[in-house]
Amino acid sequence: MAGAQGSALALAVCQAGGLGSLPAAMLSPQALQAELEVLRQQAAGPWNVNFFCHTPPEPDAAAETRWREALQPFYAEAGIDPESVPAGAGRVPFSHAVADVVEPFAPPVVSFHFGLPAPDLLARVKSWGSVVLSSATTVEEARWLEAHGADAVIAQGLEAGGHRGMFLTADLSTQLGSLALLPQIVAAVDLPVIAAGGIASAEGVRAAMALGAAGVQVGTAYLCCPEASTSALHRQALMSEAARHTALTTLFSGRPARGIVNRLMQELGPLHPAAPAFPLATAALAPLRAHFEAQGRSDCTPLWSGQNTSGCRPLPAADITADLARGFAQPSGSES
Ligand SMILES: Cc1cc2nc3c(=O)[nH]c(=O)nc-3n(C[C@H](O)[C@H](O)[C@H](O)COP(=O)(O)O)c2cc1C
Repeated sequence: MAGAQGSALALAVCQAGGLGSLPAAMLSPQALQAELEVLRQQAAGPWNVNFFCHTPPEPDAAAETRWREALQPFYAEAGIDPESVPAGAGRVPFSHAVADVVEPFAPPVVSFHFGLPAPDLLARVKSWGSVVLSSATTVEEARWLEAHGADAVIAQGLEAGGHRGMFLTADLSTQLGSLALLPQIVAAVDLPVIAAGGIASAEGVRAAMALGAAGVQVGTAYLCCPEASTSALHRQALMSEAARHTALTTLFSGRPARGIVNRLMQELGPLHPAAPAFPLATAALAPLRAHFEAQGRSDCTPLWSGQNTSGCRPLPAADITADLARGFAQPSGSES
């Protein structure tokens, strides 16, 4: 979960018997190297490192201007001159340069969001012996991942928090909830399928396994763990009534992602036509986010969250993992 955790949460999940994941999308090469060192030295079992593999867009000055115009009322309120705000990318895709950092660590598992990297780059990852996972949000994407070399598919239902992994289409009407998506992907591919989206309890795990999942991926339920780096404002929102209302929004990065509805989403509408291509929307918002956060307000802060925050508790990740893992055990009384 890029921006909400580092190796500490990944390690805690690994030590509790799960497959902890290090999000690398927002790490500099130096920070990535340091985090990989921690996992290599301290993880007893397998661990996962996650990358985005989008195609970076060409900078577009006209689109950037339209975006700043849309944000103008917020700049005016905050007393910020939009001309003074530097443009910038914020999230870099997986590349050979990043692979140079990762290769000496040969991570047991490498996962991708937004498809898979180019064939030569994917072949390089596989040459280290890493198991490769990627997210599918439709049956077509699952089939594409199988045909292009993924070893397992994460079926990311519409309930999931954070960015939608969608990569073959931008049409949100194609996106299915977990209960509809999972069995259709299980039927469509021969790979193991990992269920994601809305799973927050042992019962949720059991439901996913009953629908043919080989495992589950859980994000939101870990966001209030002490090992996560989730901000105080974000934690507060997750534990409040506000968390009952999430929406997909393009405002914070340019790609649809699910977060708790805040003032920016309410006032501009969550899917804004002027939001520039991923990940270019982020830079123009940075000073606004900082301005309101300094006042203890999340008006312009992405509050990533899935639809099901019922598993979000301020407990160690080991406890959350142990609770979820009960879903893999036979329910008592079911033995014949
Ligand atoms: C705060 C947050 C950040 C996320 N960041 C990433 C990411 O960097 N890479 C990724 O593949 N998925 C990311 N996701 C999506 C998760 O991998 C997963 O699909 C999702 O959390 C599952 O649904 P749930 O949130 O209902 O548990 C993120 C999710 C959240 C909540």
